[in-house]
Amino acid sequence: MSILIIGGSGLLGHYLKRSVSSDYEAPTSTELDLLSYNSISSYLKRREYKVIYIAAALTNVDECERDPDKSFAINCKAVKYIRELAPKAKIIYYSTDYVFDGEPGKFSKIEMPNPINTYGRHKLCSESYLQTYSQDHIIIRTSWLFGLDEKQLNFPMQIINRLKNNINPVVNPTHFGTPTYAGDLAEKSVAIARNATNGLDRISNGFGSIYGIHNIVSSVKKIS
Ligand SMILES: NC(=O)c1ccc[n+]([C@@H]2O[C@H](COP(=O)([O-])OP(=O)(O)OC[C@H]3O[C@@H](n4cnc5c(N)ncnc54)[C@H](OP(=O)(O)O)[C@@H]3O)[C@@H](O)[C@H]2O)c1
Repeated sequence: MSILIIGGSGLLGHYLKRSVSSDYEAPTSTELDLLSYNSISSYLKRREYKVIYIAAALTNVDECERDPDKSFAINCKAVKYIRELAPKAKIIYYSTDYVFDGEPGKFSKIEMPNPINTYGRHKLCSESYLQTYSQDHIIIRTSWLFGLDEKQLNFPMQIINRLKNNINPVVNPTHFGTPTYAGDLAEKSVAIARNATNGLDRISNGFGSIYGIHNIVSSVKKIS
């Protein structure tokens, strides 16, 4: 029995690989392609997994709008296939504050979801599937991930890259949210996977604004 990290090349996946024990697999999206039932099936049939972290997703919200079929396949249908093909595994699934409509203060797990975009609808679709048909899973809602990833696409890295290129970022001072350090999320996820059974949790590091983060990043990072 082992641990499988799907999405190991992503921001969260990078930290999950550090946080889990050494006995894990983290296939690339070529080795396990969530767009293909055959790919998911042939990978999962190779061995039995104790825990499967689903950190893979189509996270580009605009791409989800442009290509809703792809979003549905990766962000929803693939989760159903994984559940069916690995019935004994505990699934750790990552969801998002996009299951809500964005009204301030509405991120508590007792609030009613009300997604207003394709990404949010498809992430909620996975949540609902697991809650209805799965016995052993944890859904973790999170938001505004940041950390040091290879692609450097997360928002503090974007701020740094813009400042490095002398591009003055347009920052909305009223844009508030709940930033989450991906390293903290990974460690907490591993602890939850060891101790909890079924459930829905929410993990973030606190409350802040893009404007505040921009000010912190630009003051602590020496931009060369
Ligand atoms: N980033 C945020 O601010 C945020 C906020 C809330 C929730 N979340 C959720 O947290 C989780 C992790 O997000 P993240 O920011 O770490 O994601 P990310 O950096 O965008 O990485 C996405 C991962 O998904 C993989 N992937 C994409 N298409 C795939 C496919 N067809 N088959 C297999 N793998 C595929 C990517 O592999 P390749 O590199 O090979 O494409 C990559 O490893 C996701 O479930 C996301 O919805 C993220």
